[in-house]
Amino acid sequence: MNPLIRPSVQQLTAYTPGEQPKDSGLIKLNTNENPYPPSPAVARALREFQLETLRLYPDPISRSLRERIAALHDVSPEQVFVGNGSDEVLRLAIRAFTRSGGAIAAFDPTYSLYPVLAAAEDVGYRSVPLPDDFGWADPPADLDASLFCLANPNAPTGVLYPLDTVEDFCARFPGVVLLDEAYVDFAADYDAVPLARERPNVILCRTLSKSFSLAGLRVGYAIGPVDLIGALDKLKDSYNMNALAQALALAALGDIDWMRANARRIVATRERVAAELTRRAYRVVPSAANFLFIQPPDDLTAADLFARLRQRHILVRYFPAPRTQNHLRVSIGTDSDMDAFLAAIQHQ
Ligand SMILES: Cc1ncc(COP(=O)(O)O)c(C=O)c1O
Repeated sequence: MNPLIRPSVQQLTAYTPGEQPKDSGLIKLNTNENPYPPSPAVARALREFQLETLRLYPDPISRSLRERIAALHDVSPEQVFVGNGSDEVLRLAIRAFTRSGGAIAAFDPTYSLYPVLAAAEDVGYRSVPLPDDFGWADPPADLDASLFCLANPNAPTGVLYPLDTVEDFCARFPGVVLLDEAYVDFAADYDAVPLARERPNVILCRTLSKSFSLAGLRVGYAIGPVDLIGALDKLKDSYNMNALAQALALAALGDIDWMRANARRIVATRERVAAELTRRAYRVVPSAANFLFIQPPDDLTAADLFARLRQRHILVRYFPAPRTQNHLRVSIGTDSDMDAFLAAIQHQ
């Protein structure tokens, strides 16, 4: 124990990001990246980006980007926060919406970064167990937490909770509900933006990492009531969004059609692979995201299948926690990536 380090940081187990191998021969289905390239509008903006711009500090409030996001969702720019990936939004929300000695809550299983961020902010973490099918569980009324992080579609399960269920919960929960919609562009018939527009306790968080194919750029955003958004603004780094990220994100958000077309392709591949896995006796959790959460047939453990796929140069994600250890999370790649995956599991 080094007394120079804050005790909560000494005790912290850092988040383990999915592997980013140097070996380009691998089929990478482990971090829910988009297999298709970003919009040509992003490539153009990159080519036209003036090196000279980098001499100056970037716009501290990402004004143009906020305005574009506001126009997309029919809110005012004051209702928009832009962050260095949605992970930054999550971190700031936990800092802003908890008190010292307080706690946040989330389902189990869900995005495994939430408990790490809570521990880093030195606040408690209340887990609400989901049923075996990973469908909705009503959080107890006496849940002692001031912020609920609700990933919808959930990760790593891919389950989409119906809008009316989410809406009911937001109306009942006395604290802030953060709707983490990292995967929402892969879901059908669901729009929670009106909740963030109208409810005083709802913040909705999106990212350009998945559906916009820009995980490397690190851009996420939040929409919500002006006072909650203002709280995030107070806490952010002065220049949290670098100039290049602002320019390229602006270009990406100007070409929504490109994003939608890629999302449609991914959904079609997801449905094809889900049907094939079901036919082969895998348990496939119904997914509204760009990944599948699957349980292998009885004679094979998830950990063994993970290791064997790795040997065949296919990388998927295995979460060894109690609620997830019997499953693998498989990101949806191109059709040929997924054919290679299906061929590799054929021979287990
Ligand atoms: C549920 C969920 N929220 C947020 C994120 C983080 O996204 P970003 O790349 O914008 O930080 C992820 C990434 O895997 C995620 O699964």
